[in-house]
Amino acid sequence: MDKIVIEGGRPLEGTVKVSGAKNAVLPILAATLLTRGRNIIEGVPNVRDVKTMIRLLQDLGAEVASYEDEKIILDTSSANNPEAPYDLVSTMRASCLVLGPLLAKLGRARVSLPGGCAIGARPIDFHIKGLEAMGAKIWLDHGYVHGTADCLKGIQFYFDTVSVTGTANLMMAACLAEGETVLENAAKEPEVVFLADVLSQAGAKIKGQGTDMITIQGVASLQPIECRIFPDRIEAGTYMIAAAITRGDVLVENCIPQHLEPVILKLQEAQVDVDVKETSIRVQGRRPLLAVNAKTNPYPAFPTDIQAQFMALMTLARGQSIIMETVFENRFMHVAELKRMGADITLDGHTAVINGIEGLSGAPLMATDLRASASLVLAALAAKGQSVISRVYHIDRGYVGMEKKLSSLGARIQRLAN
Ligand code: EPZ
Repeated sequence: MDKIVIEGGRPLEGTVKVSGAKNAVLPILAATLLTRGRNIIEGVPNVRDVKTMIRLLQDLGAEVASYEDEKIILDTSSANNPEAPYDLVSTMRASCLVLGPLLAKLGRARVSLPGGCAIGARPIDFHIKGLEAMGAKIWLDHGYVHGTADCLKGIQFYFDTVSVTGTANLMMAACLAEGETVLENAAKEPEVVFLADVLSQAGAKIKGQGTDMITIQGVASLQPIECRIFPDRIEAGTYMIAAAITRGDVLVENCIPQHLEPVILKLQEAQVDVDVKETSIRVQGRRPLLAVNAKTNPYPAFPTDIQAQFMALMTLARGQSIIMETVFENRFMHVAELKRMGADITLDGHTAVINGIEGLSGAPLMATDLRASASLVLAALAAKGQSVISRVYHIDRGYVGMEKKLSSLGARIQRLAN
């Protein structure tokens, strides 16, 4: 398994270009199963999760007509296999996104139940409950979710807690259901809004995306999807924090600032200089870093996917910072590793209390999940001395060429393949 070696202590300087949003492209790829024909998706980020989803779609019968320069043409004319194999789904929870489209289009699905992962149990009970309410018969057997549906019917559904992929799954299924579906307490993430907009361009009748009530009128069929994936707000936020934690000066290009408002505001509160332009954000870490509090919540609040990275920054801030994680039950896997670098962090349930220190020291580190891994990279960039991060396959799931992008900003970072 590859490792990343980082010599810390150098301010990052220069320009970094953000790639397409992983969490936007995954539901779009699943949505191609609702269509029959050549789907054209541009701006596709070359990350592991995308490759996994493409392989899964090929297993389901889709064909990759072409895939180069971040543009994929996916032909779903013969996507008639309803079975998603364990070996693929078990490595990526987002595979559950094919459940709704398969039941809506084929009337059948056999999808391995996603395993939990480091950040929590991550059940899909809302997905299943909603699809059953639409008329699907769903049962679990040998770790697989089996489903059959003669014809899905529109429903009124309330999400007990906001669920991004839950909203996406039921919205996709509702596109081909009979009648009207109303999703209440729906997710407002940009990735969900984008999915609704793209499905609408393909002939779906959806309104209310971006609010907590989305209404879908079922239609008989959809045209093939054509779209360009927007920039990844979490990747952009990660590089903004990289600039701040190394006391650098970085221009983050090709991003959508309005997707990042809470992150921008929190960095400015911490005395990081953030200069926002229409499609770029310049971040300078010149003034003393101040400790600020943060609490994660569904969009448009402070994103849980930036919590670990922000905590790394707060380990070097003046004063005490309190960070609350309200979305996942176990998203502090980075804390133990940060403490091994000298960070002063105390955990109490969903709350982390961070007392800033003068400096972190490099150490051998273990990545556990995608965003915790990013947090360790940021801490290593700021730390004195060398850090060696193992299990970096977690990083490859969601960041396009992270070490190359960081090297171009002056980081002393290299990947050791083994
Ligand atoms: C999406 O995960 C993202 N993944 C996650 O990004 C992100 O952290 C999360 O949304 C929250 O923003 C993708 O979009 C592929 P949820 P998702 O359903 O949809 C509970 C990353 O780093 N829940 O919104 O799986 C769940 O356990 C990844 O890129 C149920 O209880 O998250 C969690 O506590 C990590 N039952 C909360 O809801 C359900 O049926 C929010 O989960 C579904 C969810």
